[in-house]
Amino acid sequence: MIIATFGNSVLLAKNIARKLKARHSPLTISQFPDGDLYLKYNIDVKGEVVVIVGSMQPNPTESLIKIIFAAEAAKDLGARKVILVSPYLAFMRQDGRFNPGEAVSSKIVGKLLSDSVDKIITFDPHIHRWKSMKDIFSIPAVKLTTNGLIGKYIQKNYHGEIVTGPDWESSQWAKRIADHIRVPVTIFRKKRFSPWKVQAKMVTPIPIAGKDVIIVDDIISTGHTMMEVAKQLRRMNAKSITAIVVHGMFVGGAISKLKKAGIKRIITTNCIEHPSNEIDVVPLIIKELQQKK
Ligand code: R5P
Repeated sequence: MIIATFGNSVLLAKNIARKLKARHSPLTISQFPDGDLYLKYNIDVKGEVVVIVGSMQPNPTESLIKIIFAAEAAKDLGARKVILVSPYLAFMRQDGRFNPGEAVSSKIVGKLLSDSVDKIITFDPHIHRWKSMKDIFSIPAVKLTTNGLIGKYIQKNYHGEIVTGPDWESSQWAKRIADHIRVPVTIFRKKRFSPWKVQAKMVTPIPIAGKDVIIVDDIISTGHTMMEVAKQLRRMNAKSITAIVVHGMFVGGAISKLKKAGIKRIITTNCIEHPSNEIDVVPLIIKELQQKK
């Protein structure tokens, strides 16, 4: 097995390679003077299982084309199988046509990746409007969840807390985790007016005053969802506010805005590499790669 990387999730890839005793071979990637992409394997992949490891963040569009080049080149060079481990799959949030004329990005990306790789492994993709990965991908597409890891992290580091999710979509993380570790949970109702303007309201109010509250969600992008929920929690006199998410993108200075909004701790999994990573998904990836299928 060869672990190939295109620039994202390099630490994660190194750990996977070390634990599987597989070779880690970074791809050579550059640009021709006119901007065309150049990609090269530095190892013979003939007859090998090539695992391309890399989240599609930062630079999702560039990452996608690099993944497609890496997969097609591996097959062209005689690889036996190409597996994509992309802990964060970009483009999944556009899982419908919300305005006339829009491209349904998740479906398009699913088609492109299904044409290029033999199997996909990812974590908690944002595909609420599709019933399953089968609606998007025509190849085996494994959707792992970090719920168990986040639950354990909360149990180890907090006591007597409350878990909350910022919107109905977050129930599959916040509610499931809270139910599993048996702590009170409440879900907000969110209205988004633009990427930077969000309103949130607690639908079923529960006592918050004096409590350590943990907001759980899949993604922090601009941070405005978390900031709005934190604002409400502060009004309700929460003792402390922590944000735990699977995929921390933190665009446009989100970290400092979140801190200013009174979020004491921001914790992420290493699905996207960031200094806030405290929850390691490598053991779950290893387990999946060791499956025979
Ligand atoms: C939306 O449903 C997602 O689960 C997140 O709540 C959202 O993507 C967060 O985005 P932002 O940080 O830009 O508010």
